[in-house]
Amino acid sequence: MALTPKDVLQALAPFRTAGGIEPLKAGYIQDVSIEPHADGTRVNLHVDDTWRGAAVSNADREALGSFVKAHFSEVVAVRVIPRSKEQADTARKIAKPGQAPPRTPLGVKMIAIISGKGGVGKSTVSINLAHALAGLGLRTGILDCDIYGFSVPDLLQLSEPVKTRDKRFIPPRVHDIDVMSMKFFVGHNAPVMWRGPLLGKAIRQMIEETLWNQPEYMVLDLPPGTGDIAMDVHEYFPKAAAIVVTTPDANAARVAERAGQMARSMDRRLLGVIENMSFMNCPECGYQWYPLGHGGAESVAQSLEIPVLAKIPWVISGDSGVSGLVPDGHPAQEIYRTMAQAVAQMDLVPAGPVSVNH
Ligand SMILES: Nc1ncnc2c1ncn2[C@@H]1O[C@H](COP(=O)(O)OP(=O)(O)OP(=O)(O)O)[C@@H](O)[C@H]1O
Ligand SMILES: [Mg+2]
Repeated sequence: MALTPKDVLQALAPFRTAGGIEPLKAGYIQDVSIEPHADGTRVNLHVDDTWRGAAVSNADREALGSFVKAHFSEVVAVRVIPRSKEQADTARKIAKPGQAPPRTPLGVKMIAIISGKGGVGKSTVSINLAHALAGLGLRTGILDCDIYGFSVPDLLQLSEPVKTRDKRFIPPRVHDIDVMSMKFFVGHNAPVMWRGPLLGKAIRQMIEETLWNQPEYMVLDLPPGTGDIAMDVHEYFPKAAAIVVTTPDANAARVAERAGQMARSMDRRLLGVIENMSFMNCPECGYQWYPLGHGGAESVAQSLEIPVLAKIPWVISGDSGVSGLVPDGHPAQEIYRTMAQAVAQMDLVPAGPVSVNH
């Protein structure tokens, strides 16, 4: 039987460097590819040469190669390829939807925030959930994949341009969240048709060419809708679970259900539904009322058979309220915190070495 990347990864499991590091467990080895040649099989080990690489010496890399060769008699050569070089190559190619999904940081759990309708508060929920996860001490990133409506940097009041190091992006960190956004790629109102290859390229760059700080969670703010664009973007995150956002009204709920069904048809796990702008409390007397009616979350929950994760009230932050983050001390903060705790308890599938999982 022909050698597979999985065989190589399995064989490498017990390998340790001279310094006692297990490269596979440490996430140093990100992927394996196999090249059959007339004179035998060549194995490429795609390694992360960022923080993990620092601890792995040239001698260790040679030992890795010898280890693989000693294990498989058909292997004639082993190359250790740093990821940064690969990424430069990838950037030169134009990615197409349907290609292999981008390499996500190893171990990250991705949560896509989806809705059918625009304007229901997806981006607001995304940043507040990310903030609450970070508040639990979890390393959290947010990826703003909303092509036409990127708004995460503005909602987080992030104005500085994104910096680069070694031709990779350094995600700006605000409120303990590492941020990447389409905004950094599009510039000011650039009239670009973000479909197909260009869209894929931008999303790939956002993930692969960013020096992520080993995030444990990554919240994805996806474009609204159930059409081609939303589906194109979904395709790039096969491992992401999804949370559906709706408002209490029946219209939003119906479209949210369709978005949930679409996600499910693409094999996404649906974690639950959030009802945003659910109720309003009078700051004077505490009276609670429901400007958008009732029942949206329950309707989505019932039709998709998923739990209601939270009901978020209206957050009125006054004239100075340009930030989308819930102000400190607002009751909605506790709601987000409780929801983040529930999400952190869920058994989400982390991204693994690429070849093993698809
Ligand atoms: N709970 C809330 N209380 C008050 N205002 C809110 C709340 N949630 C969202 N908003 C406001 O509603 C508007 C739409 O929110 P947001 O941009 O998060 O929605 P969206 O679903 O991401 O929209 P789009 O589809 O355009 O990307 C914004 O002005 C936001 O500040
Ligand atoms: Mg948005």
